[in-house]
Amino acid sequence: MRVVIFGTGENSAQAWHILLHQADVEVIGFLDDDAAKHGSLHFGRPVIGGQEHFASLRAQHAVTHVLVAIGNNAARRSTHEAVRAAGLALASAIHPRAVIDPSARIGVGCIVEMGVFVHPEVTIGDGVFLGGSCVIAHHSTVGHHALIGGGVVFGGRVTIGDEALIGVGVAIQPHVSIGARSVIGVGSAVIKDIPHDVIAVGVPAKVIRSLVAS
Ligand SMILES: CC(C)(COP(=O)(O)OP(=O)(O)OC[C@H]1O[C@@H](n2cnc3c(N)ncnc32)[C@H](O)[C@@H]1OP(=O)(O)O)[C@@H](O)C(=O)NCCC(=O)NCCS
Repeated sequence: MRVVIFGTGENSAQAWHILLHQADVEVIGFLDDDAAKHGSLHFGRPVIGGQEHFASLRAQHAVTHVLVAIGNNAARRSTHEAVRAAGLALASAIHPRAVIDPSARIGVGCIVEMGVFVHPEVTIGDGVFLGGSCVIAHHSTVGHHALIGGGVVFGGRVTIGDEALIGVGVAIQPHVSIGARSVIGVGSAVIKDIPHDVIAVGVPAKVIRSLVAS
């Protein structure tokens, strides 16, 4: 499978190192919307150009899949839409040292770092980033394009909305829901439901700000 990675930041480094473990994947280059990077090398591969190249990747480079490796959830979602519109498939990068129960369902276009545990009956959406050593406990659901930071621990039956960002080391009580696009600060303990489009922090986590412009 010939793959291009979209993004040249830290997220792309994670993706690159994970894909090195996948013998059936050949990364032929990178794309990035920062024109200053075009023509340079990243991990020894060319930065071909920006999103405008999606349409020609198949014909010019025999590329079938794009792995979108950018940390911003909304940007990852819109880039996925552009990849699909160009008739390409979304690649995932799943570290071989992640443990995923066979009963769990994982969408396309996900990045799963080393040491992640995904327990039975979990549902993970498309374009989700699971940071190193996080634990997604049984019957939990993670919405599309959410980002779960390293070391996050879920109790069972937790629900995370689309594009939510759960900061590094957060603990989430069983059965709790976190709304779409909300952000939970590093190290927080979430013991009650958190609405959509807010920032919540602390132990226990409390809402400190809305993310909706007033
Ligand atoms: C929550 C977060 C988004 C807040 O960022 P911010 O909007 O810039 O907010 P500020 O740093 O101005 O902090 C606002 C207040 O919340 C407090 N606060 C911020 N993060 C906190 C946390 N994790 N726990 C407790 N309090 C926190 C600050 O001390 C400050 O309090 P004050 O007003 O009394 O001084 C950010 O701290 C964070 O945790 N981001 C997540 C990063 C992450 O883990 N990404 C995943 C990478 S894989």
